[in-house]
Amino acid sequence: MRNVLTGRVVAAAALFLTLQPLAAQTAEVNVYTSREPALIKPALDAFAQSTGIKVNTVFIQNGLEERVKAEGANSPADLIITVDAAKLVNASDLGILQKPGKSLPDTMIAPSLRDPDGRWSAVTLRSRVIYASKDRVKESAMTYEDLADPKWKGKICMRSGQHPYNISLIAAMIAHHGAEKTESWLRSVKANLAKKPSGGDRDVAKDILAGVCDIGLGNTYYVGLMLKDKDQKAWGEAIKVLDSTFKSGGTHVNISGVGLAKNAPNKDNAEKLTAFLLSDQAQAMLAALNDEYPVRPGVPAVATEKLFGPIKPDQFSLIQIASHRRQASELVDKVGFDQ
Ligand SMILES: [Fe+2]
Repeated sequence: MRNVLTGRVVAAAALFLTLQPLAAQTAEVNVYTSREPALIKPALDAFAQSTGIKVNTVFIQNGLEERVKAEGANSPADLIITVDAAKLVNASDLGILQKPGKSLPDTMIAPSLRDPDGRWSAVTLRSRVIYASKDRVKESAMTYEDLADPKWKGKICMRSGQHPYNISLIAAMIAHHGAEKTESWLRSVKANLAKKPSGGDRDVAKDILAGVCDIGLGNTYYVGLMLKDKDQKAWGEAIKVLDSTFKSGGTHVNISGVGLAKNAPNKDNAEKLTAFLLSDQAQAMLAALNDEYPVRPGVPAVATEKLFGPIKPDQFSLIQIASHRRQASELVDKVGFDQ
């Protein structure tokens, strides 16, 4: 019995030794992503094709950062791809990201849209804007502050105030005006609601078509999605995207982004993939896949700009905005926004 076992161990060890050099030669990179796979796969495939580096993706819709944290030193994750800047800031705070080994090529990405130490960067931008009825609203531009104007009483539809997209906008409002003014803004916006917050961004357009409300908040790319869907096309066609900004100028943006995992077993390849995602080729591809904006200036976004115009992101950095999220969430509860 002992001999049989020893024999097996020896055989296994021999097999391991023969496989070892082969495995070392297999260049690969492991991506943990909460982003819908179809929206990044073409870019990952293009990277694999041009470099010969195999890209393994693990789709984790919820709890991605916690999973990497739990896996600790043994985590196979090299890169983390998510939507919502708060997730990358959270990943950074959890200590599951690291600085790149060599400095990345100068990507010209605005400092407000990346980690100062290079642990994560935005890859694409989406703006949160005001949708308005083409028929009933004459305005073509509006500020977020204007949502509190009593002239919109009973005319605004929105998804839950606690949804991360709205929390991010409210956190940005705190960055601009402080918590006290934001609270009274939020109370006034609530007073203007046509109905209790519900559904998603696309339901805002659906409700505008149905005449339930005249304006509402939504992310830009949903307009593109609605126009491409035969069942939702009428919703998309009922609305226009207003030029939406804070009073001081910029539009509230959120991101899809990439972070370098702290224990990345394939760190070099991970850095190569990050650089590729910020290249002209991948930027144009990723933006077009979801009607988003490239994060890198100078990369054309013809189709996206045709739908929503050029983008002028808010002056506050994603990190500054994320720092007000908890307070934003408390204000939503305090004013009973969703009640
Ligand atoms: Fe979304």
